[in-house]
Amino acid sequence: MNKIQQSFHKSRRKELSGLIGKDSIAVIFGNTFRNKSYDGDYLFKQYKNFYYLTGFTEANSALLIAPGGITLKSGSQKIKTKEVLYVQPKDEKMETWSGKRLGYNNVKNELGVDYSEVNEKICRILSYHILKNYRRVYLNIAEMLKLTGDMKKIISDFLDNLNRIAPHTEIIDVSYILGKMRSLKTEFETEKIRKASDISVQSYNEILKILKPGMTEFEIQTELEYYYRHYGGEETAYHPIVASGENACILHYENNDQKLSDNQLLLIDSASEYNYYCSDITRTFPVSGKFTHEQKEIYDIVLKANKECIKKVKPGVRFSEIGKLSEKVLAEGLNKLGILKDKTEIKKYSLHGIGHHIGMDTHDAVPSSVTESSDTDTLKPGMVLTIEPGLYFTKEMKEIPVKYRSMGIRIEDVVLVTKSGSEVLTRGMVKETADVEEKMHITDL
Ligand code: GLY
Ligand code: MN
Ligand code: MN
Repeated sequence: MNKIQQSFHKSRRKELSGLIGKDSIAVIFGNTFRNKSYDGDYLFKQYKNFYYLTGFTEANSALLIAPGGITLKSGSQKIKTKEVLYVQPKDEKMETWSGKRLGYNNVKNELGVDYSEVNEKICRILSYHILKNYRRVYLNIAEMLKLTGDMKKIISDFLDNLNRIAPHTEIIDVSYILGKMRSLKTEFETEKIRKASDISVQSYNEILKILKPGMTEFEIQTELEYYYRHYGGEETAYHPIVASGENACILHYENNDQKLSDNQLLLIDSASEYNYYCSDITRTFPVSGKFTHEQKEIYDIVLKANKECIKKVKPGVRFSEIGKLSEKVLAEGLNKLGILKDKTEIKKYSLHGIGHHIGMDTHDAVPSSVTESSDTDTLKPGMVLTIEPGLYFTKEMKEIPVKYRSMGIRIEDVVLVTKSGSEVLTRGMVKETADVEEKMHITDL
């Protein structure tokens, strides 16, 4: 790992240390393998909070943070440290089957974490005798309870002892505090999201070159997945939604197995992940290369909502207010077309909220609430959001004129909140109807 990345993760550990305080300790577990069927596992993916603090992608690891210091025994020596990374032991046989392991000797040099031990030693920390010395113990409880294999055994012993431990120390889930940290991206992180967005835009542009009637949704999905890898992404940020016609009205449509026909719209909601950071783009294209009059009417209402909401993004504005603006623009547009008499009924056709935070998770694991003591709804520089208004008319909606039915349109961009306003990280992807048609036409020649 290069020094820039090392110092990013170190800065995250330092910030967490400051937030939890010297009389606290945090133990954050990494992910373990998960069985898919018989002796086959799902592809391993590190827990995002653990990655945020370490950048380490090996299974069966754990991180200890002790802001006030902890003394550990190593043979006859006593070591005082503020951070320990617990990693898998080197094992020649296992490494032949499943790949190289870093080994605790190499942790400091490779990852910049001050001290390291083999993972089984974490059980010493999770004992009554150690934990009772701390006022608070922060754990990634929800993730910890899903661990498998040897790490699960360590957790089981800890849980068996919890009734003895808990009266002496507060047990707190660290996810909320990490979520708050994760809501404000550093430049290191926004660069990753920017890169994930660029890769996604390049890949969408490849799709515009080949999209035509007769193809299947699945072909588009696999082409996108190919180009994400081709342009440097590691995997999809989430299962791609490639939804033609009526299918676009299923918000998380995942079958992607239908044929595209001439008069349909195709909604693609897909993006690449890059170095553990996600993008999230939706565009809606006419399969034929040209929008029909009715398609353009609805598309332009959604586009107006997308653009007006993006204009609103700046520090101090409430995300929930942007959501209300979106509904207002959509309702007015439909009302003007004579489709929606009662504007308060817009939710029936707009279905979902205006967007979400995005980062290491597509729907980023950050708090979004307003309580008496905490407001995570107000935008701040460094937040990264999606703006994704949509309108959806199924064939069952008898109150909607037939010509508009079986149509789902969403236009989604990734937007960084800057000090003075915002920057659209997905701005390279066309969205005006004329630009979409031109791009599809030019590439036809
Ligand atoms: N891709 C899922 C979403 O847009 O929220
Ligand atoms: Mn989204
Ligand atoms: Mn999306």
